[in-house]
Amino acid sequence: MSQQIIEKINKLKDKHNAVILAHNYQPPEIQDIADFGGDSLGLSIKAAETDADVIVFCGVRFMAETAAILSPDKTILLPDEQAGCPMADMITADQLQQLKQKHPDALVVCYVNSSAEVKAESDYCCTSANAVEVVDSLPKDKQIIFVPDQHLGRFVIERTKRDLILWPGYCHVHVVITGEDIENAKARHPDAVVMAHPECTETVKALSDQLLSTGQMLRFVAQNRAKKFIIATEVGIIHTLKKQNPQAEFIFASENAICPNMKKISLEKLLWSLQDLQCTVTVPKDIRIKAKKALDRMVEILPAK
Ligand code: 13P
Ligand code: SF4
Repeated sequence: MSQQIIEKINKLKDKHNAVILAHNYQPPEIQDIADFGGDSLGLSIKAAETDADVIVFCGVRFMAETAAILSPDKTILLPDEQAGCPMADMITADQLQQLKQKHPDALVVCYVNSSAEVKAESDYCCTSANAVEVVDSLPKDKQIIFVPDQHLGRFVIERTKRDLILWPGYCHVHVVITGEDIENAKARHPDAVVMAHPECTETVKALSDQLLSTGQMLRFVAQNRAKKFIIATEVGIIHTLKKQNPQAEFIFASENAICPNMKKISLEKLLWSLQDLQCTVTVPKDIRIKAKKALDRMVEILPAK
């Protein structure tokens, strides 16, 4: 059954000159059918560079919106329109405007996990792969507002020694991973390298060896001699980690770290959306032009690591 769906998807891809991008947290069959997998930064760059006419974004809404901002002439599909990111919804453009009024001289850096409207109110965008470099590149005498993820924000404060004005947003998936989970996993696997996403809590990060975006985790494992890794991020990444490194062992820090929104995309939904080019994501021109400035500064000044 799924083989038939895969064949239909591939035919439709040719018919529409479409490319499939999939985030590292997507279900295994979606990661497998994608033309490109990656983290938010890698996929943003692919979306900006591709000469396909249609981009099927297998991820969550802010990612598809980012593609729509960077490639306004392309058709962007999000195969499940309900696939959102609760953290991105934790700050609205109105709330950010109010915060800016309190700190009128501050620059605003927004995490890519934010709405197009919030990006339009921001000076710079960043992902977990380049947040430290983005903040480091800003003038030292400037105050910086950082939204919406307080945990990524604290990671940036620690690395840059800059005093950011934070927003109390968080990822409900990463905060379920506890310090106890890491301690238990380390006790069972003392020889393993612990890799955590910067969205994890400060306790988890303090117990980890490497703090990396999902794309950086894939590259770190590929280049590392270690054979065992404890993974403190969403469980979906283990599929590609295992596929690319069959000789290595991967241990979930917590099997509860599952992003329900990332799991909303299925092969069936991908097929339906490609069949009729439905579930399109667009961003109004006035918002898009302002949001693109923040994204361009990120993509152009700080290439993927
Ligand atoms: P990455 O950019 O590291 O893939 O993270 C995206 C995300 O949503 C993490 O929860
Ligand atoms: Fe949003 Fe967290 Fe899901 Fe990433 S894992 S998409 S931050 S809810």
